Amino acid sequence: MKSHISNSAVSFLILLLLATNLVESCKPSGRIRGKKPPPGECNQENYSDCCKKGKFYKTYKCSPKVTGHTKAVLTLNSFEKGGDGGGPSECDNQYHSDNTPVVALSTGWFNKMQRCLQNITLYGNGRSVNAMVVDECDSTAGCDADHDYQPPCPNNIVDASKAVWKALKVPKSDWGELDIYWSEA
Ligand SMILES: *[C@@H]1O[C@H](CO)[C@@H](O)[C@H](O)[C@H]1NC(C)=O
Ligand SMILES: *[C@@H]1O[C@H](CO)[C@@H](O)[C@H](O)[C@H]1NC(C)=O
Repeated sequence: MKSHISNSAVSFLILLLLATNLVESCKPSGRIRGKKPPPGECNQENYSDCCKKGKFYKTYKCSPKVTGHTKAVLTLNSFEKGGDGGGPSECDNQYHSDNTPVVALSTGWFNKMQRCLQNITLYGNGRSVNAMVVDECDSTAGCDADHDYQPPCPNNIVDASKAVWKALKVPKSDWGELDIYWSEA
C-alpha cells in the first residue's frame, strides 16, 4: 500500500513537470519549404546562409524565456546600406555602421518592437559588451525575396555588427557563431 501511494505521487510529479514544460517551452509555429534562390540573389557574405531547395525550415513566433542570463547564439550581420542585412533597421528605419555595436534579436525576443533602441549586455569569450537593439531577426518567415532567400532565423539569435565581435575580442578567424549570454542593460 505504501509503495502504491508513493508511485502515484511520483506519477503526479512527473505529470506536473510535463505540464510545466509544455507551458514554458517554445514550440515551432510552422515550417517552410526552401526554394532555390534566383541567380544573383542571396548574399552569402559574412557567413549568411542560403535556403536549399526542398529543405524544410522551422518557424517560431516565440523565443526561449528571457532571464537575467539568457543563453543565445551570436551571429554576424552588417547593418550598413548594401550589407547582408537587407533594408534599413526596423526600429529606426536607419542603416548603422559596422563600427557601432548594434544587434538584431530573434522575433520572440524582439517582442513586437518592445526592445527597440534598448541596450543589452552580451557576455561571451570571457568579456562583455553593451549593444543597442535596432532590428529583428525574423524567425517567422524566410526563403523569399524579402529575406534575401535566407532561412528563417532560429529563435535564439543575437545577430550582431562587427563592432560587437571586436569588443568581445573574438579572433577574426572564429567569427560566425558563438555561444553567449545576454541580459537587459
Ligand atoms: C562582409 O563581407 C564583405 C566582403 O567580404 C566585407 O567587406 C565586409 O567587411 C563584411 N562585413 C562584416 C560585418 O564583416
Ligand atoms: C544605449 O547606449 C547608447 C550608447 O552608449 C546610448 O547613447 C543610449 O542612450 C542608450 N539607450 C538607452 C535606451 O539607454
